[in-house]
Amino acid sequence: MTLILKQLKLDTSDKITKSVFGNVVETGTETKGHLCVKQKEEEDAEIKQANLLYGELLPQGLRRSLDKKHLNGKNAKIVFDLGMGIGKNVVMIFLEHPNIACVIGIELSSSRYKLAEEYVHKLVDKYSKHLRITEYKSGKITKISDLCGRRLEIICGNLFDELPRICLADIILFNVEIPVPLYTKLYDFFKEAKKGCRIMSYLNLKNLFDTMKQESIVEQLEVNKEDDLIQTSWSSEGCHMFMWTRCGAIIKDTKIKEGIKYK
Ligand SMILES: C[S@@+](CC[C@H](N)C(=O)[O-])C[C@H]1O[C@@H](n2cnc3c(N)ncnc32)[C@H](O)[C@@H]1O
Repeated sequence: MTLILKQLKLDTSDKITKSVFGNVVETGTETKGHLCVKQKEEEDAEIKQANLLYGELLPQGLRRSLDKKHLNGKNAKIVFDLGMGIGKNVVMIFLEHPNIACVIGIELSSSRYKLAEEYVHKLVDKYSKHLRITEYKSGKITKISDLCGRRLEIICGNLFDELPRICLADIILFNVEIPVPLYTKLYDFFKEAKKGCRIMSYLNLKNLFDTMKQESIVEQLEVNKEDDLIQTSWSSEGCHMFMWTRCGAIIKDTKIKEGIKYK
């Protein structure tokens, strides 16, 4: 099987992800991503103004989100999954989109991150002829690369710490619950995204930014009407997730930022 180098057939990707994650299609409130987090971790997160609310896109939902009418994964080089959970999306994106040079997943919960780390290392072990680990600090960061130099990177940390690099993103998956006191910080964060960057969110970013009386920086995708449904672990028949393009004024020093390379 030629992994990564050619476009994978979806059933091949399904086989690989199943061999790594076991059950990929998990529904309800007792998925691996739910069960690994203990109450203490949730309480600690709350103190740090974070919400570890969990749920996953199902493979079908992820593929629909990245299709041409939505986030257009075929026309992207750099993708972020902010709040990646146990890493299913980042692995599937890496496998199924050979045009994507770098996919980066960030997760605040150390127990979810640990699972993601385990799965990414399992992927490399199983396909060691095609993949190698380029950087690894247990519980903190893993970077892997394929034979073409395409990269997958997972980080245990706060999504807001990605501010300096978010200007590089062509696509941002942002299916995260953010506490109200952080809304201004969130606006400033998305303001750094480049014009045309496609964003998927669980929150209605436009409503949220409008109530802050801030200049509009996101425009909803034409296709993303109320009946545009995405399959998720909490709604396998599909629920409405928001999809946007970054619009409006861009930050002044974008030209400088364009010089930033993903390291
Ligand atoms: C609803 S899950 C989304 C999982 C996956 N991205 C998906 O779409 O299938 C949200 C994740 O964001 C994480 N999270 C919440 N606040 C965060 C923050 N400030 N930084 C990084 N991750 C965060 C949670 O722990 C949780 O795993």
